Amino acid sequence: MRITLGVTGGVAAYKSAELVRRLQTEGHTVQVVMTRAAREFVTPLTFAALSGQKVITDLFTGGESGDANLESAIEHVAVAQRTDLLLVAPATADTLAKFARGLADDFLSTLYLASTAPVVLAPAMNVNMWQHPATQENLFSLRKRGVRIVEPGEGYLACGMTGPGRLAAQEEILKAVREIVEAQQDLAAETVLVTAGPTCEDLDPVRFITNRSSGKMGYAVAEAAARRGAKVILIAGPTSLETPVGVERIDVRTAEEMLRAVQAQFPAATIAVFVAAVSDYRPAELALTKIKRKDGALTIRLEPNPDILATMARDKGDRLVVGFAAETDHVAENARKKLAEKNADLIVANDVTAEGAGFDVDTNIVTIFSRDARDLPLPRMRKAEVAQRILDEALRLRSALRSKPATHRAGD
Ligand code: PMT
Repeated sequence: MRITLGVTGGVAAYKSAELVRRLQTEGHTVQVVMTRAAREFVTPLTFAALSGQKVITDLFTGGESGDANLESAIEHVAVAQRTDLLLVAPATADTLAKFARGLADDFLSTLYLASTAPVVLAPAMNVNMWQHPATQENLFSLRKRGVRIVEPGEGYLACGMTGPGRLAAQEEILKAVREIVEAQQDLAAETVLVTAGPTCEDLDPVRFITNRSSGKMGYAVAEAAARRGAKVILIAGPTSLETPVGVERIDVRTAEEMLRAVQAQFPAATIAVFVAAVSDYRPAELALTKIKRKDGALTIRLEPNPDILATMARDKGDRLVVGFAAETDHVAENARKKLAEKNADLIVANDVTAEGAGFDVDTNIVTIFSRDARDLPLPRMRKAEVAQRILDEALRLRSALRSKPATHRAGD
């Protein structure tokens, strides 16, 4: 898991150095973000050496020397996307207040707002600061939002006072992290098959029919499933994307090749998500030499490709089958038709003419139509987030179908 460790300004900052090691030993990649105050206690170099990664320190310059180690001023968004869990240890009263109120005046507080990952905070501060109603109110707001607080321990504090305020024991912090890691592995028992990208249907050695699919949506589904613990097989048409970590990719070119690859992998799958923009037609003849230009019109005869989704879903057994619908009009009507005709369990419909949706953009606007008639319209969101919602919906539907008496299932 990719953990972003925020280190804020307190005497306990040095203890987080050991935390980096422990998290790495447990198999996590750790990106450290330090606030300005934290750097008064420990140098970024310590964390850089331990984590093996550059430490992020500033919102705009990236490093205290001013030589930007950030690609751009919007790097917090990129780091947020790469973060599976945000852990802040130690978290000062100031950090709690910023997070609770939504202030974003440094990299860490900005990252907190930009991230959708679970958050664990391990506060450490003076006992009076901890007990102050302002801090307690901030903690109340954060807990209500689902932020996990690892309560500080009691004892002698650096300020000379005794009471609650010491950074929790490392084991307590690691326990909170482990609980979240386990909860996020809800697909650990699944094998997820994903199709992605376009297909290319050759006309002659230099020309082919294809479409505008970049593969981004399908790769996002594959990545999300792998992050949630699934074994993932990605069957991809030609794209320029990198294979997500933990995903097995099988490259294909044509719809026929995609069908054969899917047929080989489908038996092992428990969930199949058909995101690929498969060419519905292919040239009826493949010219072995380049078709020469001549006067007058050229007629190319096309023949239908197999419908991969419909072919596989016909005998899907217990598998949960998710299709997509790329529409330009009558989205809901067409999606419901595809849900029934292709025997899918879910259809994720997108209007590919809408801005910020469909082909070759990083966001999508979809409605998930379900065979149990629960339509879920979603606002514009990043494809990575759409992917999570699709997987959530697949799990929800499967448990709903399993809890239904068998006699009611036919003809759902
Ligand atoms: O790849 P991106 O640039 O990120 O773009 C994402 C996307 C627009 C490709 C994606 O969001 C999307 O809409 N995918 C489905 C594309 C498509 O072919 O839609 P369709 O409505 O024509 O097909 C319906 C379903 O049948 C799809 O699940 C499709 O994979 C499947 N199908 C279609 C034709 C065919 N011959 N075989 C199939 O399996």
